[in-house]
Amino acid sequence: MKNILACVLSLFTFCSYVSGQKVQDFDSIQLYTLTNQSGVQVKVTNFGAIITSIIVPDRAGKMADIALGYHHVENYINAVDKPYFGAIVGRYGNRIAKGEFTLDGETYSLAVNNSPNHLHGGVIGFDKVVWEAKPIHGQGWQGVELKYLAKDKEEGYPGNLSITVTYKLDDSNQLSVDYHATTDKATPVNLTQHTYFNLKGEGDGTILDHELMLNASRYTPVDSTLIPTGELASVTGTPFDFTKPKAIGRDIGLKHQQLEYGLGYDHNFVLNRDGEGLSHAATVHEPSSGRVMEIHTTEPGIQFYCGNFLDGRLKGKSGRSYVHRGGFCLETQHYPDSPNQDQFPSTILRPDGVYKTTTVFKFSTK
Ligand code: GLA
Repeated sequence: MKNILACVLSLFTFCSYVSGQKVQDFDSIQLYTLTNQSGVQVKVTNFGAIITSIIVPDRAGKMADIALGYHHVENYINAVDKPYFGAIVGRYGNRIAKGEFTLDGETYSLAVNNSPNHLHGGVIGFDKVVWEAKPIHGQGWQGVELKYLAKDKEEGYPGNLSITVTYKLDDSNQLSVDYHATTDKATPVNLTQHTYFNLKGEGDGTILDHELMLNASRYTPVDSTLIPTGELASVTGTPFDFTKPKAIGRDIGLKHQQLEYGLGYDHNFVLNRDGEGLSHAATVHEPSSGRVMEIHTTEPGIQFYCGNFLDGRLKGKSGRSYVHRGGFCLETQHYPDSPNQDQFPSTILRPDGVYKTTTVFKFSTK
């Protein structure tokens, strides 16, 4: 446990309510700080398995916190419009059409919390529960292992789902996220990490100048409620072409029906994968600071959301407002609404199977 500070956040120690419903006793909420030999620091709380902060150097060695978030847990609980800052979302990250799916002949109804659809696991998804946490470490890395048992019928989903998420920060500035889950009944599972990044530093304006490269030749166009139409469309010749690095803001204002539906980018991209295992998904470069983030994943898709719902009302850790498009998310995952779209890669976990995925965020400068 050397170098791992596990400190109880006094403000976290009270009972709290989400949507008027008592969720948990928050006595056990803690904050864990992972540090590596170059001073990179990642903070994680076991409330929602949230990454509250990621501090990395720019090309001159100046450190900044590049993850949007808060200092106090009440803010995570009470945030306007629930932006899911830094959290693990599930049991099904992203949308399920009309909050309904049929599995093995039985129809399940879920909360319609993003009308007319179900979003990010429901009213009290994995981002709003207390996880059991344990600091772990090895040669050249420090980590936190988080466990949560989602009960059968919790938020309407079938099966007791036993989940472990492990964050590890190593000396080469890689933050890896390993997901593992098993179930006692067939259930959809789609877990992802919902950190909002601003590589200039959280609260420092918009992310429109960040250059994004997505290793995706296709994406899943959506209807006006952000449910995929089922088509895997080519990005070629559209504002969705990020196959070569491009400023996020370059084409965002173009007239395109998909950009109208998403209010900007809020779409799943179909990753070009090189076989099994970790494969390059995205690279983001912020020109003024020189900071670079690379993402590798075992997942088939990535949701690129560029903070279209941020509107300056939320103030973050530095007291500055999170303006419209003041952060972006790159959520590695399966495609939205997969439980209702048989042609998409399956998200169904069965009792004889193991859910196992990994995503790695690597930080550097150029
Ligand atoms: C996801 C969704 C967005 C939005 C954010 C949270 O990324 O795709 O539409 O709901 O979460 O604000």
